[in-house]
Amino acid sequence: MPRADVAPRPAQLPQAKLSGAALRLVDPWGAAIPDLEWKVFADDIAAITQLKKQKNAIILAHNYQTPEIFHGVADIVGDSLTLARAAAEVKAERIVMAGVHFMAETAKILNPTKKVLIPDLRAGCSLAESITVADMRLLRQKYPGVPIVTYVNTSAAIKAESDICCTSANAKKIVESLGVAQVIMVPDEYLAQNVARETKVKIIAWRGHCEVHERFTASEITDLRHSHAGLVVLAHPECPPDVVMASDFAGSTAAMIDYVEQKQPARVVLLTECSMSDNVALAAAQRGQATEFIRPCNLCPHMKRISLAGIRTCLERDLYEVTVAAELLAPARQAIDRMLAA
Ligand code: 13P
Ligand code: SF4
Repeated sequence: MPRADVAPRPAQLPQAKLSGAALRLVDPWGAAIPDLEWKVFADDIAAITQLKKQKNAIILAHNYQTPEIFHGVADIVGDSLTLARAAAEVKAERIVMAGVHFMAETAKILNPTKKVLIPDLRAGCSLAESITVADMRLLRQKYPGVPIVTYVNTSAAIKAESDICCTSANAKKIVESLGVAQVIMVPDEYLAQNVARETKVKIIAWRGHCEVHERFTASEITDLRHSHAGLVVLAHPECPPDVVMASDFAGSTAAMIDYVEQKQPARVVLLTECSMSDNVALAAAQRGQATEFIRPCNLCPHMKRISLAGIRTCLERDLYEVTVAAELLAPARQAIDRMLAA
C-alpha cells in the first residue's frame, strides 16, 4: 500500500490522466521505483499526458531514454531509423524529441512547418561534434567523385553536405545501395570499420567516436563471460571493431531489442547505453520472459539531460524550439529522403 504522503502509482490515478504505456507498467514499476521517486514521476506523467492533448503534441523517445520517459510518456519509441521514419509521418502540431539535438533537427528537416521542441538544448552528441562543414569540403576535395555516406548522428549542416544518410540499422545496405566501389563514411570510425568487414565496398572513414560506446573493451567481454556462464553478448556497431568481433551479435538498439525478444537468451548483456537494459528488462518482465540482464553501465550524458520534469516544462512553455536554417532544409532533406527510400 502506498503511504498517505505519496502519490498513487498509475493504476490508482484517474485513467484519463495516464498514457496506456504508463498503465501497462504498474507491476514492474511497483518493484523498480521507490515510492518517493514515484511521487515525482506520477505528477509529471499525469501532467505531460494532459499537456500532450492540449497542445496537440507527440513525444518521440530514443531507446536510451530512462524508463519513466520511455514507458511512461513516449508515443513512439525506437532507434534512430524508427524515429526518423516516424518523424516523417507525424500528424501532430508539435513534436517533442526525447533524445538528442541531431534527432530533433532530423524531425524538423522532415517537418519544417511543425514546431519541434527539445527539453534541453545541451543534449548533444560526441559524434555530431566530431566533424565540421570545412572537414566535409576538404574530404570532397581530397576524394573527388566519391560519395559521402553520413551517419544520422550529425548536424543538419553536415547532412546538407552529404550524398545520403544512414543509421546503424541500415549502414551496410546504404553503402551497397550506391553501386560504387568506394565511399566515404562519416563521422563514426568504428561504425565504418564494422561495416567495412561485411562489404566489398572500400570505405574511407572519419575519426569520430561515440563517447559511450568507445569505452567498451574486448577484455571486459572476456571478464563478463568468465563471471557469467552462458552469457550472450550483444554490441552496438558504434563499439570498437574488436568489441564487436568478440560479441555474439551486433546491431542497432532496435536490432538488440528484437534479438532479446525473439531468441530469449537466459543471460544477456547489451553493450550500449545503460537505460537500454532498463527498458528492455522491464519489457521482458512484462512478457514474463526470464532473461537475466547483466548491466555494466555506460551513461550518455547527453541523453541523460532529458528528464520528465524537462519534458513537462517543454510542453508548458514551448521550450526549446529547434530550428534549421532555411538554406539547409532542402539539401539535408535530400540526404535523409534518399536513405528512407533506399
Ligand atoms: P541507434 O538507436 O540508431 O542504434 O543509435 C544509437 C545511438 O547512439 C543514438 O545516439
Ligand atoms: Fe551520441 Fe553516443 Fe550519446 Fe548516442 S550514445 S547520443 S552516439 S554520444
